[in-house]
Amino acid sequence: MPERYVLAVDQGTTSTRSLVFDRGGRMVAVRQREHRQYFPRPGWVEHDPMEIWANTQRTAAQVLADVPGTGEVMALGIANQRETTVVWDRDTGRPVTRALVWQDTRTDDLVTELAARQGAALVAERSGMAIAGYFSGPRLRWILDHVPRARERAERGQLLFGTMETWLIWNLTGGPDGGVHVTDVTNASRTLLMDVRTCRWDPDLLAFFDVPAAMLPEIRPSVGVLGTATALSPALPITGALGDQQAALFGQTCFAPGEAKCTYGTGSFLLQNTGTELVRTRSGSISTVAYQLAGEPVHYALEGSVAVAGALVQWLRDGLGLISSAAEVETLARTVSDNGGCYVVPAFSGLLAPHWRGEARGLVAGLTSYVTKGHLARAALEATGWQTRDVVRAMAADSGLSLPALRVDGGMTTNNLLMQFVADALDTPVVRPMVGETVSLGAAYAAGLAVGLWSDVEALRRNWHRAAQWSPSPERARALTAEYPTWERAVQLSIAWGA
Ligand code: G3P
Repeated sequence: MPERYVLAVDQGTTSTRSLVFDRGGRMVAVRQREHRQYFPRPGWVEHDPMEIWANTQRTAAQVLADVPGTGEVMALGIANQRETTVVWDRDTGRPVTRALVWQDTRTDDLVTELAARQGAALVAERSGMAIAGYFSGPRLRWILDHVPRARERAERGQLLFGTMETWLIWNLTGGPDGGVHVTDVTNASRTLLMDVRTCRWDPDLLAFFDVPAAMLPEIRPSVGVLGTATALSPALPITGALGDQQAALFGQTCFAPGEAKCTYGTGSFLLQNTGTELVRTRSGSISTVAYQLAGEPVHYALEGSVAVAGALVQWLRDGLGLISSAAEVETLARTVSDNGGCYVVPAFSGLLAPHWRGEARGLVAGLTSYVTKGHLARAALEATGWQTRDVVRAMAADSGLSLPALRVDGGMTTNNLLMQFVADALDTPVVRPMVGETVSLGAAYAAGLAVGLWSDVEALRRNWHRAAQWSPSPERARALTAEYPTWERAVQLSIAWGA
């Protein structure tokens, strides 16, 4: 019997990766292409959807060719950068403008105006999230308001809306020639347009944001048949789709309530499974959909989204020239034994969870002539750790669930100093799995489950193996608890600065 595989596409913020996994959850092939980042004005961030589609086709075709001749690729799963918004013409397949990326802050004024309107409370109540420029709904509204004739064409059903998985699935399944217009429930839950309990587009939310229903994709479970990727192969089914952070939760096999993962990439995203009951947030985390298997109830999660994590290290490298590679930040931070009284709040484009203050701006606090670049590097790493503590605290207040251990992944998890700081700041063990590609693995697991490559989620759990663990030191945990109010004061200063 030929070896059986699953293809995963991870369409991320900086690149598109296509990977093939075997039944053991091992990666057997990978191809990657970066795409251009457009910054047409301060705070604006755009991607070219056509470039991303071309990169998807190319990397997927390459990686399929890498699969040993006798192997059979059973299905395709997609994970994607979330909240990035695309609108295109259903007849030509041409986007009406470049994609508005999740980091783009152009909707700040619109969001302030909407939040002050009557009915704004309904948004948090129905969607599970307070109005913020981070989500895709306000970006869609911006396109409808600013691209000539977009609203009129959308109302006629000529224009289609989607986040990246929707755009890719539509193209993979034929584009203007019968492409399937669907989104998965995790991505839909990030629009502010979906009722998070019923998992349907909500007419009141559509009215509030003034978005025509005709342009919205059909909401589908994350695990189940979505279409056939005829653009790649005549009979390759697309059977999994998840927002990338939900995919990482799936790839980390956090299937039980309380289990949580944090992905440390450009930003950091901590998701805790809360089971099939929706947990309402009051403390600044997000009530979001974790995943849904076709025919089964939706599983929910609480999320703490932090916009800047690895991006701060990049800034030390590219903006300040303090280090020449990201890995050097740990070496530099280890030249000193503490932060020297220095705190960095990386609110480059406001603060997301748990503060949701778009106006906040970054700052370095506590500078004295004693502070060296080593202290600055340490404070930068600690900022990521403190932000993890901020979101964990908010989520614990909302869910009442304890955090037995935090599963981590992403580029920054090779930084031992940071991972130990996170363990100490949370007073919780931090563990990293053997397969670090959790986003694409999650997409592959979703697709493979749907076609029976794995029998159930328990089979996936057996593939999870620990590669590293950082255990908290009780003494350091006590010291960091005592220090935490100083960090909180720095955060308040960064909010006040931008106000
Ligand atoms: O919510 C944004 C997130 O999905 C982006 O993830 O890994 O593409 O930066 P990433």
